[in-house]
Amino acid sequence: MAKLIYSPIASADGYVEDKEGKFDWAAPDDEVHAFVNDLERPIGTHLYGRRMYETMVFWETVNTGGDQAAVSRDFAQIWRAAEKIVYSRTLQTPSSGRTRIERDFDPAAIRRLKESSARDISVGGAELAGEAIAAGLVDEVHLFLVPVIVGGGKRALPDDVRARLDLLAERDFRSGVVHLHYGLRV
Ligand SMILES: NC(=O)c1ccc[n+]([C@@H]2O[C@H](COP(=O)([O-])OP(=O)(O)OC[C@H]3O[C@@H](n4cnc5c(N)ncnc54)[C@H](OP(=O)(O)O)[C@@H]3O)[C@@H](O)[C@H]2O)c1
Repeated sequence: MAKLIYSPIASADGYVEDKEGKFDWAAPDDEVHAFVNDLERPIGTHLYGRRMYETMVFWETVNTGGDQAAVSRDFAQIWRAAEKIVYSRTLQTPSSGRTRIERDFDPAAIRRLKESSARDISVGGAELAGEAIAAGLVDEVHLFLVPVIVGGGKRALPDDVRARLDLLAERDFRSGVVHLHYGLRV
């Protein structure tokens, strides 16, 4: 059975975007980017909220020429090869390959997808992932904490959910980013 995995990059106070809707402070350097690439490589299907999809679809058309950083070229290839399901009540047409739109996030359908998938599944951004966590669907969280306090914005983890976290692995990076890999027991 496939696992459902949420991997937010958040400020130290737990936000994926600040009050101005910015997240430039979360941009990974090459070391973190390469680590993220290795986490994404085995993922077969990404479940995206519409807002996260609109950020990530950049990778569909980004220049992958030899003048680009190796980590960026690698990530673009990983992203293009994976299946994507975008959850949205407003988006009419996907602007990437291997992508379909769903109008409702149906936990029973996700359970069936987990049962039938040979490869693990990811979920993002924060709003959609929060729904998945609340529904007890998320098995693991890779929490990347960036050494910055932004004081408010969009929380990486949902309100009104209680869960136990089992620390499976941890790593720190030269930039001061810390990676915490948790198993989730809702
Ligand atoms: N920290 C970082 O490294 C980083 C990286 C990338 C992005 N970000 C930020 O994170 C944001 C994405 O997270 P988010 O929490 O704002 O949004 P999100 O979860 O990606 O998307 C929310 C949207 O998903 C759709 N949706 C959610 N639940 C649904 C349901 N049950 N059924 C159908 N559709 C559903 C709705 O789209 P419709 O409105 O179309 O119905 C909703 O407006 C980005 O906009 C960006 O600002 C941060």
